[in-house]
Amino acid sequence: MDTEREVDPATRRALFDQVRRHTGIAMSERKWTLLEGRLRRRLRELELSAYRDYLQVLEAKPDEVRDFIDLVTTNETSFFRTPRVWAYFAGQFLPRWHATHADTPLRVWSAAASSGEEAYTVAMLCEEFRSRHASFRYRILATDISDAILRKAATGYFQGRSVDGLQQTHPDLLARYFSAADGGFSAGPALRANLTFRKHNLHEPARDIGAMDVTLLRNVLIYFDTDGQQAVLENVRRAMAPDGLLIVGESESLNRFEMGFGFEQPLIYRKEARP
Ligand SMILES: C[S@@+](CC[C@H](N)C(=O)[O-])C[C@H]1O[C@@H](n2cnc3c(N)ncnc32)[C@H](O)[C@@H]1O
Repeated sequence: MDTEREVDPATRRALFDQVRRHTGIAMSERKWTLLEGRLRRRLRELELSAYRDYLQVLEAKPDEVRDFIDLVTTNETSFFRTPRVWAYFAGQFLPRWHATHADTPLRVWSAAASSGEEAYTVAMLCEEFRSRHASFRYRILATDISDAILRKAATGYFQGRSVDGLQQTHPDLLARYFSAADGGFSAGPALRANLTFRKHNLHEPARDIGAMDVTLLRNVLIYFDTDGQQAVLENVRRAMAPDGLLIVGESESLNRFEMGFGFEQPLIYRKEARP
């Protein structure tokens, strides 16, 4: 197989172009080692000895694109990631929202859901709120571009580092909403009942996703370039309810964009009507 040094610049560029074409992820030359490492095993599985040949497979076999996307995406996530966002969601947003929307279900979109920890975090907090406000209803849509990671999310089964973190920070919620299974933990029916998983590329218009009251677009904008971020934000904006809340990741900010979102507090924005 090509070694890192032998892969010619044109082939590297062509692979970066494929990443951008299928995911919108912008990779520069310094990400070559990362990309090479992720694709190497796939080449071996396909018994290919050169990355040039893999490019041909990608063009000739549309099914390969799915595996390619699974390989090039980064799925790092955790339950209750960025705790102050969740303190705001449960402590401020939910009570205020329920007081003004008593009869409407809350619609939450986990827009780059990865293996689901974010969506199940929302579900736990909504269930907790519902235990005190019986009329509260909610629906969560979890989407991601990667089939493989979404399938994992949909199982509701967590083990290892993921569940260890939840055990440490919220043992009470783990005990209430999960049951031990096969060395890990499975989400129970209360969490699953209001959760839907669906493949969606944020670079495509979210035509059948609409009127989201809360959109979690966290730790995904960082992978796109400025134009890509703007395009994604516009797609997301269109899928949000008036006044909808947009929550981004810790190293993300909308400050330099004039996108029709008002600052609510760090990492949290509100959709504004355009003049
Ligand atoms: C680092 S994870 C973030 C997970 C979660 N939102 C969090 O903050 O913990 C980034 C996720 O974005 C997904 N992703 C990357 N490009 C995407 C795209 N164009 N459309 C939808 N999801 C995408 C990846 O598959 C990955 O699961």
